[in-house]
Amino acid sequence: MKMLENISLKPYNTFHIETTARYFSILNDADSLQELPLGNQPLMVLGGGSNMLLTKNFDGLVVKNEIMGIELVHEDPEFIYVSAGAGENWHGFVMHCISKGWGGLENLSLIPGSVGASPMQNIGAYGVELEDVFWSLEAWHIQEKRIHTFTKSDCAFGYRESVFKKSLKGKYIILKVTYRLHKKPVFHTSYGAITQELDRMGVTEYSVSAISEAVIRIRTSKLPDPAIIGNAGSFFKNPVVSNETYEQLKASFPTIVAFPQLDKSVKLAAGWLIEQCGWKGYRSGDAGCHASQALVLVNYGNATGKQIYDLSEKILQSVISRFGISLEREVNII
Ligand code: EPU
Repeated sequence: MKMLENISLKPYNTFHIETTARYFSILNDADSLQELPLGNQPLMVLGGGSNMLLTKNFDGLVVKNEIMGIELVHEDPEFIYVSAGAGENWHGFVMHCISKGWGGLENLSLIPGSVGASPMQNIGAYGVELEDVFWSLEAWHIQEKRIHTFTKSDCAFGYRESVFKKSLKGKYIILKVTYRLHKKPVFHTSYGAITQELDRMGVTEYSVSAISEAVIRIRTSKLPDPAIIGNAGSFFKNPVVSNETYEQLKASFPTIVAFPQLDKSVKLAAGWLIEQCGWKGYRSGDAGCHASQALVLVNYGNATGKQIYDLSEKILQSVISRFGISLEREVNII
């Protein structure tokens, strides 16, 4: 593995924050991991850099995962099992599967980031979560220096959660993910504006490509393109509260936006809570809260990670004082 020193991380994070890595290396295949010169220094594995906020220079080794390759590994009458290298661009992989007519990923179109990050935080959008299509993954145990296979239950998926963000945090490098996709797609169109968008497009017969296109149109209309304005998608998670808490909030705030969950808990729209506190469209220097989606913090140019973080802290505090709800950051703060 070629080792570079003092490398700017600006091109490697979608917030476009200027920080540096003491050491930087690109990982092209699993075999190179045996040569990984770890020592005692901190290690950061980068995929698309789309779910992180860099607040300082990284005094350790950054490994950019660029393990590529898409492979049909197995099929049965109902399903296609397809694996992808962790370094593959997520949306590129989704488009590949859609071009083959395989179903399951269409609602997850245009999510920034890499294949390797998809199970890490159980990415989700428009009524579908990664766990719905996940089959297995291979990951390299950094200390034991060998590959382990994880099934779905091993990953302990939750809302934007997995074992890799909790008890196994920092212990593994994800190498390859296998998805189980439908030969006969099952369409999920009940979320939000998907059906309206399909109507607007004049679609009468649903297909994976039509749904993908509808999702792309909705996302493009609301979410800033990280290639143009730095951001990391939703900065906070939508908070999940008990039904009792929800009823109390609703009594005081009748227009509160909420989604009842199967286990009787209630997911609140963090974007609504933030908007009500007056942050939507706010800008201070180059740090801001997006004008079309209050859950997304943005870097208009040269904001530092600390400035974005400080803004997130102000938002968090104002939501606590107005609603008594403590938002949790979804983005990894580094
Ligand atoms: N809302 C507001 N004001 C806002 C934003 C949202 O009032 O500024 C309310 C609206 O009523 C809206 C509702 O909140 O109908 C839900 O908003 P939206 O459909 O945009 O979704 P979200 O809950 O804000 C989540 C995910 C997104 C995902 C969308 C669509 C989280 C943390 N975020 O956002 O994921 O794309 O649903 O499924 O769960 C991400 O994780 O980075 C991400 C972008």
